[in-house]
Amino acid sequence: MFSVCGIIGAVLVSGQVAPLIRQSLKRLEYRGYDSSGIATVKEGRIHIKKDKGKIDDIHRRLNFDALPGLIGIGHTRWATHGPPSKSNAHPHIDCFNHIAVVHNGIIENYQELRESLVDQGHRFLSETDTEVIPHLIEVALQKTKRLDKAVAKILPKIEGSYAIAVIDTSGKTLVCARKESPLLLGLSESGYYCASDVPAFLPMTRQTIVLEDDEIACLTANGAALYRLTPKGVLAQLPLRTPTTVQWTLDMAEKGGYPHFMLKEIHEQPRALRDTLRIRKDDLCKFAGVLNNHQIICAIAAGTSYHAALASKYMFSQIAGRFMHSVVASEGPEIIDNSLGGDAVVIAVTQSGETIDTIHAIKNLKRQGCTILAITNTVDSSITRLADGVLYTQAGPEIGVAATKTFVTQLACLASLSIHLGELTGKLQPKEASQLFDELYRFPNLLQSIIRNQEGLVKETAQHYVAKPSFFFLGRGISRATAMEGALKIKELAYVHAEGYPAGESKHGPIALVEEGFPIVFVAPNDRTRRFILGNVMEMKSRLAQIITICSSGDNHLAELSDRVIMMPPALSNVFSPIGYVVPLQFLAYYAAVQRGYSPDQPRNLAKAVTVL
Ligand code: M6R
Repeated sequence: MFSVCGIIGAVLVSGQVAPLIRQSLKRLEYRGYDSSGIATVKEGRIHIKKDKGKIDDIHRRLNFDALPGLIGIGHTRWATHGPPSKSNAHPHIDCFNHIAVVHNGIIENYQELRESLVDQGHRFLSETDTEVIPHLIEVALQKTKRLDKAVAKILPKIEGSYAIAVIDTSGKTLVCARKESPLLLGLSESGYYCASDVPAFLPMTRQTIVLEDDEIACLTANGAALYRLTPKGVLAQLPLRTPTTVQWTLDMAEKGGYPHFMLKEIHEQPRALRDTLRIRKDDLCKFAGVLNNHQIICAIAAGTSYHAALASKYMFSQIAGRFMHSVVASEGPEIIDNSLGGDAVVIAVTQSGETIDTIHAIKNLKRQGCTILAITNTVDSSITRLADGVLYTQAGPEIGVAATKTFVTQLACLASLSIHLGELTGKLQPKEASQLFDELYRFPNLLQSIIRNQEGLVKETAQHYVAKPSFFFLGRGISRATAMEGALKIKELAYVHAEGYPAGESKHGPIALVEEGFPIVFVAPNDRTRRFILGNVMEMKSRLAQIITICSSGDNHLAELSDRVIMMPPALSNVFSPIGYVVPLQFLAYYAAVQRGYSPDQPRNLAKAVTVL
């Protein structure tokens, strides 16, 4: 039930809708905040105000509340297609300003749709995927004349995900629909609402109906009607379901009912992954082409993003047969100063796009003539302006200081890249590449099952070890990156000392610290490293360490050697394993922090974007 951007639609019995929509958008700002806009209808005209920036700032400049009318839609954006700007802000309109649309989601085939609409003479004003929707509705309305039927007609043409709210100059009906992006209806005597999330309408009503995929709702001042959309774009009426009464406070509602944003964001990971795996193949191929055309590939990043870069070093080598250097950004200038040139391509991995260490290193590399690519979650961030090419992860805003969903989406992006690169280098035959993609596309559902089945057990494990002052996290191969991420998480959130280390290296020093009861978390998928990690487990066990193992379900041998076991679906035991194996480690750190009485969303001494060198 999560996605990027926030939408709201409202039809009132009396009064003025714009101030109410503005306040609703404010309550949805945690979903996105780079631009926003509102459209209303009065006397056969659509009125729109929108701009780049935060809602309060835009309101101070434009006065949203002055928009007239009883019916309207609003949007707060987290850019995915096109940078934050007035023209890219929602609502979007058709050629005649007769239809206005707000959208949350990603339209995968928008380029084809847009090209065909441009050929038919339609004028586009933005770079967004959304803008195809009002133009498609414009075409359909010429035939059907009814907004609900026109919306139904065009939705089967859209591939991807959407929650939309649509109004037109008739000014009576608000039509909304969803597929894979959340949308809820709010029902009250004074008005009817649709929104991405409960906080939008919580002060107006607690009576809500969750819209399901392929359902369309029509809201008027007199009520709501519900329809199922047939594959041919026809509306089949459904009985209106009985609303449920939301019991949450506003604060709980913003966090989706979770006590902290971090926990919400861990739970959002299947959705974030799914959206990121929808990155256009053309964009990935272009990126992979640039990598393939350079002799040296380097990834540069900080913190959790560095762990994603480190994991991708294994993916690039095992899948694409290309060695990649992965460099900690703050060390970058010391290592790479004057030692790279035009034959090197550097991927900056950064969720914020604003980490000064990464920016600093990139500027240095640019001066040396390197090609710079970026993988980031933040459109229009500083690093996107320095880079020669950018891929955007689709995690949506991450509010908890600890990186969770941005990490798994970075991994997914790098995993997809490595497969495309493998095709280009010839290491992978097309059949092998498509098998790997199939494996990767299973991850969103696998993550869902880990979250469903393992959270309780990990919580209980955290409780058991809560008093321990120090931990090791050990893994071999790509799991070394997962182990390092697990150690970073517990350090930054629970303030517990932890070392993430290559398991094979642990016998060269760290083992000296191990004594009876010392907790060691082994990240041990059933991959090519499995037979070696057994030896490391034995070494630690014979020194009476407490062994906590995250391993593949059915690995009874490892389970027997362990004091605690978290079992993972066997389909995760491949070169993409960190995407799944990190989830229990995120839970472990989260619950350790909570049990030790710390706030996981705002750990001490840390900031979401570190902008000091
Ligand atoms: O925005 P970036 O990905 O460049 O940030 C890098 C690190 O500051 C960040 O990953 C940090 O380590 C997180 N707090 C980890 O949870």
